[in-house]
Amino acid sequence: MSIWRRKSLAVLMDEASEDEKGLKRTLSSKALVALGIGAIIGAGLFSLTGIAAAEHAGPAVTLSFVLAAVGCAFAGLCYAEFASMIPVAGSAYTYSYATMGEFMAWIIGWDLVLEYALGAATVGVSWSRYLLELLSKFGVHLPVELTCSPWEKLTLSDGTVIDGGFINLPAIFIVSLLSLLLIRGTKESASMNNFLVVLKVAVVILFIVIGWGFIDPANYTPYIPENTGVKGQFGWSGIAAGAGTVFFAFIGFDAVSTAAQEAKNPQKGMPIGILGSLVICTILYVLFAHVMTGLVPYYKFAGDAKPAATAFAVTGYDFLQTGLIVAILAGYTSVILVMLMGQSRVFYSMSNDGLLPKFFSDIHSKYRTPWKTNLFFLGFVSLFAGFVPVSDLGHMVSIGTLLAFSLVCIGILIMRKKMPDAKRSFRTPLVPFVPIAGVVVCFYLMYSLPQESWFRLIIWMALGVVIYFIYGKNRSKLNK
Ligand code: ALA
Repeated sequence: MSIWRRKSLAVLMDEASEDEKGLKRTLSSKALVALGIGAIIGAGLFSLTGIAAAEHAGPAVTLSFVLAAVGCAFAGLCYAEFASMIPVAGSAYTYSYATMGEFMAWIIGWDLVLEYALGAATVGVSWSRYLLELLSKFGVHLPVELTCSPWEKLTLSDGTVIDGGFINLPAIFIVSLLSLLLIRGTKESASMNNFLVVLKVAVVILFIVIGWGFIDPANYTPYIPENTGVKGQFGWSGIAAGAGTVFFAFIGFDAVSTAAQEAKNPQKGMPIGILGSLVICTILYVLFAHVMTGLVPYYKFAGDAKPAATAFAVTGYDFLQTGLIVAILAGYTSVILVMLMGQSRVFYSMSNDGLLPKFFSDIHSKYRTPWKTNLFFLGFVSLFAGFVPVSDLGHMVSIGTLLAFSLVCIGILIMRKKMPDAKRSFRTPLVPFVPIAGVVVCFYLMYSLPQESWFRLIIWMALGVVIYFIYGKNRSKLNK
């Protein structure tokens, strides 16, 4: 059998109806937008904005956000067509199995590990930074060796510079705790998610409104700092590199598509959920970044993994600052949970299709969750959360996700050709312009990321190809 063999739409729909009998269609379009925002706002905004401003774009990090949003919008339009056409709980992996065939589906599924598993690790590391900030407000200081990974460079609130510790235990703690919760089958109920979304959005708006009054216009000069002679460090190339970094902040809107099976009216709700959450987040992000770089000179965010707290300190509202940190911690929790859940779902599907060992789709007899996958990723994600610095992780997540987005855009082009008549209630506008522009912007953002992330991406994907040919190709269920 060919590695390009495809799953038919009919089979996909059948599997979905068997698999998800228990799921109820309860999510309205509004709830889907909330779900998207719940998965989107997290470490990208509260942590990487500072890194992108200090290292790449200066105050023009606002333009980086706009550029990243444009790339996401193109990809989002393609996701929306897929989700309205194949409204099954799945993701880019499932879509590509139907359009581009098994090998590409495997490639995307393998690549999604970078988005979901490393994404969870990144947010975990950022979570630990805000936790330490919170503890320090109460006079508690944990030893650097146990709260910082070996290659992490940090500037503490009191100005002390830390050049590497040994292990980031708080990050491992939160990842483990949430993995165990997932094994118990804790499902984010819609109301819990709505609460976290309201909290997160309230914090962002509070930051913008209060911070606005304390902006020092001098911090905006120069708005686009001159290039230092190094590609990606200020100037226009810096804005692009910044976009590659803050692209992380948008990741998660694709998670809406995994809830397709639970949407009341997926044909209408999916596009609204995906595109609506994107638009709202883009507006909030640009305003947030504008205020943040107006409060504190951009270069002060170098090595600061909790820049929102640093910037807000300028306002002098200490009590509010503590509340802000608590809300950020709560908001991160939902992002990590969604990422870990998404990861286990993807590996579960891949294992069900025979591309990965059965181990990954074993269901716990009592909790009815893919507990072995969850345990596996508890270990895998902890390893990264404990030992890798946040910016390296963030870059890996961004490059991996950008690759997945490009493949989804290409998938639309293929599907329009191969299945022109299949019913879809949402059609990506201006095909082929939108998918092609999506691929171009995604590749441009990938190109702007540091070279190391390219090497790591190539090594990871090469490993995936080897595993597919040694294992998955022959054991695939489609083979039988
Ligand atoms: N967009 C999510 C975040 O920024 C992944 O945390």
